[in-house]
Amino acid sequence: MQRVNSVEQLRQSVAAWRAAGDRIALVPTMGNLHDGHMALFRQAYKHAKRLIVSSFVNPMQFGPSEDYERYPRTPDADSEILRRSGCDILFVPEVNEVYPRGLAFATRVQVPGFSEILDGEFRPGHFEGVASVVMRLFSMVQPNVAIFGDKDYQQLLVIRRMATDLFLPVEIVGSPTVRAPDGLALSSRNVYLSEDERAIAPKLYEELRRVAVAIYTDDESAKDLQALETEARRNLRAFGFKVEYFTIRSANTLLTPSLSESELVILVAARLGRARLIDNTRATRP
Ligand code: PAF
Repeated sequence: MQRVNSVEQLRQSVAAWRAAGDRIALVPTMGNLHDGHMALFRQAYKHAKRLIVSSFVNPMQFGPSEDYERYPRTPDADSEILRRSGCDILFVPEVNEVYPRGLAFATRVQVPGFSEILDGEFRPGHFEGVASVVMRLFSMVQPNVAIFGDKDYQQLLVIRRMATDLFLPVEIVGSPTVRAPDGLALSSRNVYLSEDERAIAPKLYEELRRVAVAIYTDDESAKDLQALETEARRNLRAFGFKVEYFTIRSANTLLTPSLSESELVILVAARLGRARLIDNTRATRP
């Protein structure tokens, strides 16, 4: 595995692959790799011959009071995991490589519609930061395909919309969420949970699944999605979560669904101690 820091080095390294017509996959990450990332790498190899993993904690997507400084950084362990996963290139740019003119003067990408709601409401500017850095990574790497986790469902839709709107020649692939045996979605931010909080955290997914099943199996509940949401928020609060949102939306538009909708997504964001957890599940009419 090659480890490169600059776009110039990166382009030199991939030139031969491109000349040979090899498909190239990019998995953008912020490092601190875990089994959830490994699943993204395996997915990448289903779609491409070559794998480039970027590891960059993107300052533009963090709010002023968020965890940019203390976000877990584990470069040595990450390199080891990537070597074992058969990654071809680990791309680890510095901030000034990605934003040569600094953040204040950086060109930004906005994806209206998907970006201001849900996580965008609680993290203003977050999706502008995500779209802007992913656009830069796409321009630097020029991958044929890029893999993103379904766990960040809203992020996946933002990036899909950006790629479609800007006619980007890259296929965007979503990869199923990887969970601990008790159901908690794997996330770098799970390290912020205390032992007691870690024992409570799986309730988030339990509640998502309970609602997903209730939507289509119980006729009366299906008529009142708002009541299902309210009950779920109440249940999570009783376990000690500070719920930011728990909401049932159309899976394609993230808008409030009509009753006839058959593809729904249920999304949650909640704080538990120092950790802010997000998760989602799909509900499809049987
Ligand atoms: O999901 C993440 O880890 C980040 O938002 C991403 C896509 C790497 C952009 O910084």
